[in-house]
Amino acid sequence: MPNDLEPVWTRLKAAKPAERRITGLFDADPTRAGEFSIAADGMLFDYSKTNLDAETRETLLELARVVPEKRDAMFSGSRINETEDRAVLHTALRNPEGELTVEGEDISAGVAETLDRMCGFAKAVRDGSFAGQGGRITDVVNIGIGGSDLGPAMAALALSPFHDGPRTHFVSNVDGADIADTLDGLDPATTLVIVASKTFTTIETMTNAETAMAWMRQSVDDPSAQFAALSSAEDKTADWGIDPSRVFGFEDWVGGRYSMWGPIGLSLMIAIGPENFREFLRGGAAMDAHFQNAPLARNMPVMLALVGIWHHQISGYPTRAVLPYDNRLARLPAYLQQLEMESNGKRVSMDGADLDRASGPVVWGEPGTNGQHAFYQLIHQGTQIVPCEFIAAARGHEPHLDHHHKLLLANCLAQSEALMRGRDLDTARELMREKGMRGEELERQARHRVFPGNRPSTTLLIRQLTPYTLGQIVALYEHRVFVEGVILGINSFDQWGVELGKELALKVAPLLDGEQAPGHDPSTLALAEAVLEMRNSSV
Ligand code: F6P
Repeated sequence: MPNDLEPVWTRLKAAKPAERRITGLFDADPTRAGEFSIAADGMLFDYSKTNLDAETRETLLELARVVPEKRDAMFSGSRINETEDRAVLHTALRNPEGELTVEGEDISAGVAETLDRMCGFAKAVRDGSFAGQGGRITDVVNIGIGGSDLGPAMAALALSPFHDGPRTHFVSNVDGADIADTLDGLDPATTLVIVASKTFTTIETMTNAETAMAWMRQSVDDPSAQFAALSSAEDKTADWGIDPSRVFGFEDWVGGRYSMWGPIGLSLMIAIGPENFREFLRGGAAMDAHFQNAPLARNMPVMLALVGIWHHQISGYPTRAVLPYDNRLARLPAYLQQLEMESNGKRVSMDGADLDRASGPVVWGEPGTNGQHAFYQLIHQGTQIVPCEFIAAARGHEPHLDHHHKLLLANCLAQSEALMRGRDLDTARELMREKGMRGEELERQARHRVFPGNRPSTTLLIRQLTPYTLGQIVALYEHRVFVEGVILGINSFDQWGVELGKELALKVAPLLDGEQAPGHDPSTLALAEAVLEMRNSSV
């Protein structure tokens, strides 16, 4: 944690608004909606419905003064992922025409070459020149987990109006139900299986890949000929008999949760076509350019990060809801959970010292309007304040159903308005009076109908959800996470917190075979025994 920022944190804590109302900020400054929003490259990020005023924003911006140096270090390929001694260059994947040389290596040439190979293979699958034993590929099954699943799965759903390739399926969970349900009804002879694993050792992925191989072997003479691999571990893909022409590797400077821009995006590319995939990259690259060039106060990732810090680290709101008013962004909250929580859910700072403030928040969400009929009750009237991040596209993809889209947007705008304005007791009393209520009953009922309001939200508006705008959105959130990490002094690019559970799962497994395994606690032993009993009982 850069120590010279301590006085800034102290000032921010002191500026934390207790009673001030967001509506009051609008009363004081009618131009606030314009002043507290950023429009760039067809997107609008509005953070005017937060409790930030100009002075606090200036103070927050002081925190961000450590960002440009780190940002430039990241883009130029310095090893900023210090605990793994790696550079962080997923940004290079979306700039294949770039000219980046790092430590003597021409990074861009390798990126362009791999992208061209991916495009060639995707084209062959799409036009039938690569076929299965039974003919043209009808279905693609991507097997991966975490960053090797969430990105392409989220994007494939988001961009479904652009699908004109084979059907795409995603299997991630080691629960046999996932692969069984996915393969059920597919024809092995016309299915392409893509094993997406940077390490090619992840137990869930390799278990699912073995099951898929066995399934294919039943009716296909040379099953590995219908497998492709997205992995850096060429020796391991060779052990699987996967021809190197169908192996797409990436370097250690691409972290799992940042990997959808390269080979891990192959299933998406096959679904939407190479040109649309390149549009997705262009959108990401455009956000990179904005992040690198826009002044901090007009910089979307920077301001999105500062609003996040204002809400979580300063105001103490424990969670953050991401609420896309777009059904095709249904997987975005899950994708952002990994991106944000695996990146910034850390208890020590870069130098190993205890973090002296909260790490990243819990991120969660669901598409609107469904969420409105589920958990918005708590958001409006619960005792915890949940900052909400609304995301919406002005235009849908169903012109014949435009009335649906207008209603969707009206709900989105209405929710942020309702969260900010609330409803006071007098208005609630008036409502009860109109319903004919009087006296104590009126008083009691009215209190249930009060909305405290003053609940902060931001809105990200795009014209339409397309490959380009999805690229912008994903890169925006990546950089937001980076900025938050830099300000907190965290390494956002390692993920040591997932290791212990993985190790212990391997040590628990023998217990479920009835074997003795030392070193387990009494609760785990008792649970394992109960599992065995239930599995072995005839009822
Ligand atoms: O969950 C930890 C993690 O390392 C993620 O960061 C990564 O996305 C995922 O596992 C999958 O790893 P791999 O691509 O090596 O199978």
